Parts: sequence; structure tokens; C-alpha cells
Amino acid sequence: MTNEVIQNILTRCSVRAYDDRPVEREKIDTLLQCAVHAPSAMNRQTWHFSAVLNREKIAKLAVAVGKALGNEKYDMYKPAALIIPSNELIGDTGITSWDNACALENIFLAAHSMGLGTVWINQLSDTCDVPEVRAVLTEFGVPENHKVFGIAAIGYAAAETPVKEKKFPVTYVE
Ligand SMILES: Cc1cc2nc3c(=O)[nH]c(=O)nc-3n(C[C@H](O)[C@H](O)[C@H](O)COP(=O)(O)O)c2cc1C
Repeated sequence: MTNEVIQNILTRCSVRAYDDRPVEREKIDTLLQCAVHAPSAMNRQTWHFSAVLNREKIAKLAVAVGKALGNEKYDMYKPAALIIPSNELIGDTGITSWDNACALENIFLAAHSMGLGTVWINQLSDTCDVPEVRAVLTEFGVPENHKVFGIAAIGYAAAETPVKEKKFPVTYVE
């Protein structure tokens, strides 16, 4: 069976090249609403979300992360917007990072339904506590006691991106 929601899930793909259009504030507001409605372990909702809508500020973060990685060319794909979820580490780090993944997937799917492209950016998970990176995150409102796992790059796709073929490793037990 299918419906609009299922079609949206089946046609999402990661987008790594964006055009110059900004993302409308109203759409970002909706993405953030979708993020906070994701499940979280024990409903702790330990997260905070920083929405960065300024390309120069995104570039500033990318430069700091690139330096931490030893990669001067690192640019996070130059998206129009970033949503940076972060989590207070209460309990198990693994579980907290799963909360992050649930929030990100809600953002990705909602963005796709609004004609926006997204991709998971993972480089903050290893660099968020490097002082130069943390300084930029603090400027963006990320609480000092929060860890950053995955973040979302968001923008209008520069070109049509094909959906990847997926395996179907499933066993039915009846
Ligand atoms: C945990 C995780 C980390 C990822 N990190 C990155 C990343 O740092 N950079 C990137 O370009 N894509 C990243 N991705 C996106 C995957 O590469 C992508 O989802 C995968 O290739 C499948 O493609 P699709 O999203 O188009 O279906 C990540 C995805 C996940 C789930």
C-alpha cells in the first residue's frame, strides 16, 4: 500500500549541492516543530536546536571544523541553513545519540516534503569540543554542557538528485 507520507519516505535522498536560494523562515520553523516531535528515550527531550540561517556564519563553523579535521577545503557543502541539534548527556551517550538521529530523520523527511534537500553532517560529533569549534557553537546558542552528534545541512538542491537503490534485507516470520 502507499500514501503521500510513504511516497515522501521512499523518495528522500541526501543532497550535497545547493543553489543560492535562502530557506524560508516559515519552513525552518516547521522543521523545528517536526524535530521536537521526534521520540526520545524516556521522553527526556534533552535536546536543544540551533537554526543557523546565515551563510557567512555557516562558513565560519565549517572553517573551524575543517581546521580541527586538518581539511582546509571542508565546507559542509555550503548549505543555505543548518539545524544543529545538541544533547545534554544524561544517562547513556548511545541512547542520547539515538534521540539525535530520530530528530534528524524527522527534519530530513519534513524538509523533503517541502521541496528542500538535506544531508546528515557527522563531523561535529568528533570536533564539537575542540575549543575553536566550541566557541562558534556557543555563539550559535549551543549550551556548553551539550554534545553535538549529527547535524542537518539544508537548502534547495542545485540539481535533481537520484534516489539510491536500497537493499531489502528482511526476513518474515509468520
Ligand atoms: C550516521 C550517519 C552519518 C552520516 N554522515 C554523513 C556525513 O558526514 N557527510 C555526508 O555527506 N553524508 C553523511 N551521511 C549520509 C549518508 O552518506 C547517506 O544517508 C547514505 O549514503 C545513503 O544515501 P541517501 O541518504 O541518499 O539514501 C550520514 C548518514 C548517517 C545515517
